[in-house]
Amino acid sequence: MEIHAFWLAQLFLFVLWVNGLMTLGLTGAQQQVMVCNESLMLEKLPTCGKSFEEMMKKVDSKKWCNLTEFITYYANFSLCTEREATNARCFWPNPLAQGFITGIHKQFFSNCTSEEVHWEDPPDEILVTLILIPVLLMFAMITIVVWCSKRSDILV
Ligand SMILES: *[C@@H]1O[C@H](CO)[C@@H](O)[C@H](O)[C@H]1NC(C)=O
Ligand SMILES: *[C@@H]1O[C@H](CO)[C@@H](O)[C@H](O)[C@H]1NC(C)=O
Ligand SMILES: *[C@@H]1O[C@H](CO)[C@@H](O)[C@H](O)[C@H]1NC(C)=O
Ligand SMILES: *[C@@H]1O[C@H](CO)[C@@H](O)[C@H](O)[C@H]1NC(C)=O
Repeated sequence: MEIHAFWLAQLFLFVLWVNGLMTLGLTGAQQQVMVCNESLMLEKLPTCGKSFEEMMKKVDSKKWCNLTEFITYYANFSLCTEREATNARCFWPNPLAQGFITGIHKQFFSNCTSEEVHWEDPPDEILVTLILIPVLLMFAMITIVVWCSKRSDILV
């Protein structure tokens, strides 16, 4: 019982310590998750949709299902949403932005058959990588901080 309490206290201290590191601004990505301004993001995303719409108007609507015709516009649109989400300090991708993008897909690609355009979720490996990278970065930063503080202990 007491041993459990001891480990819980250790865990609590560790969490406090990690939070302390974050508020010091050592892990920008993690901070972004915490202060995501969803209303700001939802306000800005339609701008990306508008410019995508403008660009798609240049493409013959009969070719809207041909990915090679508009892949550069789509990449532009994708980058734009990512930029706006990051500006609003939101993690990318996130469910709200995903919902917006799905709406855009419906607007332009609802008549395409799945053989022509594949909009399935990225394979699991990619999702796992996207999730793991920030986590690994955080641990790498913590390790560096610990290592540096140990080194300065030795040097001082
Ligand atoms: C979020 O963005 C809106 C503008 O859309 C702004 O008025 C508001 O102050 C922001 N909130 C925070 C917490 O930064
Ligand atoms: C899609 O567009 C590309 C480039 O214009 C063209 O080469 C290709 O044949 C088109 N594919 C289909 C299925 O229409
Ligand atoms: C990408 O979008 C921006 C506006 O968001 C536009 O100025 C630029 O020309 C676009 N680039 C391409 C390659 O379409
Ligand atoms: C899809 O087809 C319907 C009916 O043919 C049409 O009204 C609608 O404008 C089409 N949508 C797109 C995005 O092409």
